[in-house]
Parts: sequence; structure tokens; C-alpha cells
Amino acid sequence: MKRITTAELMADSEGYDRLGRFLEGKLGLSFELTARNKALFCSRLASVMNDLGISSLNHWVSSLAAETDFRGNLVFQQLVHAVTTHTTHFFRDPDHFDFLRVWFRKRLIDPQKSKDGLWRERIRIWCAASSSGEEPLSVLMTLLDCVPELLDRTATQVEILATDVDPEILDQARQGTYLESEMKGISPEQREKYFILANESRSKTEKTYQFLGKYLKWIHYFPANLAEVPLPVRPSFDLVVCRNVLIYFSEDQARRTVRELQKTLLDDGVLILGLSEAGFTTELQEADQLKALLPSIYTK
Ligand SMILES: C[S@@+](CC[C@H](N)C(=O)[O-])C[C@H]1O[C@@H](n2cnc3c(N)ncnc32)[C@H](O)[C@@H]1O
Repeated sequence: MKRITTAELMADSEGYDRLGRFLEGKLGLSFELTARNKALFCSRLASVMNDLGISSLNHWVSSLAAETDFRGNLVFQQLVHAVTTHTTHFFRDPDHFDFLRVWFRKRLIDPQKSKDGLWRERIRIWCAASSSGEEPLSVLMTLLDCVPELLDRTATQVEILATDVDPEILDQARQGTYLESEMKGISPEQREKYFILANESRSKTEKTYQFLGKYLKWIHYFPANLAEVPLPVRPSFDLVVCRNVLIYFSEDQARRTVRELQKTLLDDGVLILGLSEAGFTTELQEADQLKALLPSIYTK
């Protein structure tokens, strides 16, 4: 079969617009924002289309538009992987983790807020759009570093949910392996405590570190689409971290998602957005449904 080229995709404005409308409808992604660099974007699409033997954008969208359930649909998953941006790193935006260091301890051990004397019975955390796992692992390391008693305390249940719309990036996150160059932000003490050198490296030139299984098992990874209403999670979270994904959404979708995220919080729960995503909370703050604690950190 003839291979599709990047130039052909860039010239196919009808197919390109149709794909944009489809993606906005299904994933909430604003196509202009997602495809800032159209040439790079088309080259990613062309590579997937050639792998899957898809002859045109129109054909791709038509075959997907007929689907009602995308779970397990490889063609849809490959599209999702090609159009999503996965940039992330450990302890991204350190101010958020400085906040959490104080908040976690107070949340779990504050006598005024806990029913059973000193400790809460449980804490539920959701990292929405967790990409390759650096963010939920940073949250977990922060929690265990500032409340180390949790390691021995079975009476407090910790639930950390990490979701993403892209199943391929979630598979990578579940492995918990990171190249030396991806370990920036991890202190020598954290490296010693939470990681071991992996037997097999993911690269010929770099070491690979493995997040220890005994800690990785604290995190439950599964796919979830933030454009769905209601959101596909059981609510009542103490903490929701949803950073650097709303910026790729259309403005309406971003505001809708923040409204839905707010509904998943416990009354005194905390929502953390990306630093450049604060604008999407204006309506909820005006309606007194969210209060800013710090820039991009909110409570109900
Ligand atoms: C730039 S990464 C951000 C990762 C991490 N939250 C951080 O701040 O470092 C954006 C992630 O959002 C995910 N994503 C994009 N659209 C989504 C949607 N509709 N629902 C859930 N996740 C989505 C992408 O797959 C990607 O992994």
C-alpha cells in the first residue's frame, strides 16, 4: 500500500478539520492548541496511519465515528497516543509539593479534623492526567516522606488513583522505570529509598531506575477521559491533582472539566491545577464553590 506522507496530511484540510472536530468531541482537545506545530503533528499521525494501514484522515475518522465504545479499540488508542502530549517530570512545580508536605501531615494527623483521635481513617487522592507516572510517584514520595508512620499503620487506608486517557502511556507508568535523565528532581535520599537500578536498561547509553514494587503497589493506574460528564471515578477525594492538561482543552471543555472535578472533592478537599490553568476556575470562585488557598491550589 502507498505510504502516506506528512505533506499529504498537511494539504488535506478537509480531513484535518474533520479529525479536529472528532477529537474535540471525544477528548475535549482543542485542535489548534494540540496541533501547535502542524508539521510535527502530521508526521506523528502519518507514522501511525502507515503502521495501521489507514489510507486517509477521512477514512480514519469515519471508521471511528461509527464506534460507540472505544475500550480496547486499538485504532482509537493509537490516535489518542499520537495526539496527546505527555511532557512531565518528577516534582514539577515544586511549590505544589511544598504545599502538600504541610497539608498531608495536617490532613492525616490533625486532632481537630480526625474522628479517631489523632489519625484519619483514610485518604483518597486522584492524579488525573498522570502521563508516565512521575506526578503520582512524586505525590506518593511526598506523602511517605512527610508521614513515614503510614508505612506501618494499617488503620489508615491510602488510595491513590492515577488516570490518563492514553492507555499506552499508562502501560509505561505501570512499569515504574525511569532513565537516569528522567530522574531530575529526585534527591539522592529518595533515589536510595524508593528506587533500585533496573536489571535491564531501557536505553543502551543510560542507566534505568526501577521504582520499588512495594511502593508502586500503592498506586492504581487506569484509563479515564476528563471530557466525560460525569467523570468516570468514584467521588469523595481528599486531594485531586489535575495539572497541565486543561491547557490543551477548548475553553468550554476546560471550564466544564473543572466543574466536574470540583464535584469529586470532599467538602474540605483540595484541587491542584497547573500554574497556567488558574483562569478556568473564575466562575466557580465567583459562585463561592471554590476558594483559592494559593495560586492554582483550591478548596471547596
Ligand atoms: C502534559 S501531560 C501532563 C502530565 C502531568 N499531569 C504533569 O503535569 O506533569 C498531559 C496528559 O494529559 C493526558 N490527556 C489528554 N487529554 C486527556 C483527556 N481528555 N482525559 C484524560 N487525560 C488526558 C495526556 O495523555 C497526557 O498524558
